[in-house]
Amino acid sequence: METESELRKIEEEIASCNKCPLKKTATRPVPGEGNCHAEIMFIGEAPGYWEDQRGIPFCGAAGKLLDELLLSINLKREDVFVANILKHRPPENRDPLPNEVEACKEYLDRQLKAIRPKVIVALGRFAMAKFFPYGKISRDHGIARLVDYGGQRYIFVPMFHPAAALRSSEVEKQLRRDFLNLTQGVERFKNSDQQEKSESDQKEKIINEQLELI
Ligand code: URA
Repeated sequence: METESELRKIEEEIASCNKCPLKKTATRPVPGEGNCHAEIMFIGEAPGYWEDQRGIPFCGAAGKLLDELLLSINLKREDVFVANILKHRPPENRDPLPNEVEACKEYLDRQLKAIRPKVIVALGRFAMAKFFPYGKISRDHGIARLVDYGGQRYIFVPMFHPAAALRSSEVEKQLRRDFLNLTQGVERFKNSDQQEKSESDQKEKIINEQLELI
């Protein structure tokens, strides 16, 4: 319940946010939505036309492709949480400006803290830059790695933005492939995390046994 109420609170704050000028030109806020207890969080760039009209992230053409990609790995929107770097639409879908990203940062950071997903999938370069500033989407897409962000460790996978896949069939092919590899990449880290934990549990057990002998 705590997660839900924190998310509602964040939504309310976004709806009345004046930290940057975007609210003035936007129709509705698009805070993000999905499963509050999701293991995977998908993060895009900013609302587009349809998202701005409806207040729902990824509900236009790029969102249709996202749904299809999720389905290809047996996931539905209800299984994941989907949000954006910016919570209000930039005019004419222009790129987010640094001051807008900075002003909006707190909301996504708080959503991450509330939901605590294990996996973050960044869709496109703006979302990637938040967690992996020196990454390059053409080089690093589809590669899972561990990142520390805001005192939390995540399995992080950057991917091409679905809108880029709609413009290029080569990008689309790579995005589809990256989705199919997502589970495998994530499992590898989950297993290594588990192995690290059982090794450290084992070490602790040995130390405790030795202390009992003293
Ligand atoms: N593109 C994004 O990055 N986010 C959306 O919500 C829609 C399109």
